[in-house]
Amino acid sequence: MNIAIVGATGNVGRKIIEVLEKKNFPTKNLYLVASSKSVGKKIKFKGKEIVVENLETFDFSKGEITFFSAGGKISEKYVPIAAKYSTVIDNSRHFRMDPDVPLIVPQVNSNDLKNIKKNIIANPNCSTAQLVIVLKPLHDIFKIKRVVISTYQSTSGAGKAAMDELEEQTKLSLENKKIISKNYTKQIAFNAIPHIDIFVDEGYTKEEIKMIDETKKIIDNKIELTATCVRIPVMVSHSESLNIEFEKPYTVEKIREVLNNAEGCKVIDERKDGGYITPVEAEGKNETFISRIRKDNSNQNAVNLWCVSDNLLRGAALNAVEIAEAYIKIK
Ligand SMILES: NC(=O)c1ccc[n+]([C@@H]2O[C@H](COP(=O)([O-])OP(=O)(O)OC[C@H]3O[C@@H](n4cnc5c(N)ncnc54)[C@H](OP(=O)(O)O)[C@@H]3O)[C@@H](O)[C@H]2O)c1
Repeated sequence: MNIAIVGATGNVGRKIIEVLEKKNFPTKNLYLVASSKSVGKKIKFKGKEIVVENLETFDFSKGEITFFSAGGKISEKYVPIAAKYSTVIDNSRHFRMDPDVPLIVPQVNSNDLKNIKKNIIANPNCSTAQLVIVLKPLHDIFKIKRVVISTYQSTSGAGKAAMDELEEQTKLSLENKKIISKNYTKQIAFNAIPHIDIFVDEGYTKEEIKMIDETKKIIDNKIELTATCVRIPVMVSHSESLNIEFEKPYTVEKIREVLNNAEGCKVIDERKDGGYITPVEAEGKNETFISRIRKDNSNQNAVNLWCVSDNLLRGAALNAVEIAEAYIKIK
């Protein structure tokens, strides 16, 4: 197929290129598109160098599938144009809650790909993608009533400039020099910031609301959720602490068995020093890892667990390419 990537020079765009190559995705021509400042840059794909083109002048009829990962504003303006000629897989938040746009994690709801009306498919928020991979198999068996989520999100979730800021601030901090924050509202090095995306209603942030709304759209509108999203000084992989309350009684052993057999999940839960997964270990891996599975002693139908996934893979590039694979199968 002919593939185009808008935002090809960014964190997610570069990962999409890597995933297409690793999976040997059937790619006839690959077109790489970014802002005018990147025009002429060369990026390698399958041993060949591809020259980056300018979004403003790009001919969207070149791609049969076009991935967008250049932010919400770019998607708002250019996705409807691209979708006239090409099937768009959009990583931004812009179309996710549009009832005519399926929001897909292939292991969870690839059937929703049958309802494409605008030639647009949305990729969920990074913290949602790993969450639904864990919740869906549990919901199928124990029926989830409510989930309390706390996230520990890496800087790569905020783009390349945000990762650079963590590196710079770490150096400055160690040298006892003045720290200036550009991508964050407070210092990110050696800190934790309980604020991701803009503030919306009742003191919640947009990231928290996205996790709630997107999970309902992907799995089941009846599940109740609440979230607190926190940025931490980690480069790659998001971690989530989940408290999941079921309608039905459960056992920890059964949860372990269900998650071990669920597509995209891997349980690492040894209940001893180091017998759990951390963000550094999840980087570069396709699975969503689950650790620290234990009873909530204050609620007999609830369980606590820890889940970690590479946000640039499951939360973005891998999920986007898997959507393309599922779409080709269904088409
Ligand atoms: N990072 C994650 O974990 C994650 C997960 C899910 C979804 N997403 C979404 O994916 C998108 C990209 O995120 P990212 O982390 O890859 O960001 P990033 O590293 O900052 O990259 C942004 C990309 O967009 C391009 N771009 C920016 N302004 C542009 C313009 N005016 N015209 C054309 N291209 C432009 C940039 O091109 P230049 O290099 O030329 O500026 C670059 O290729 C965002 O919508 C984000 O919400 C990210």
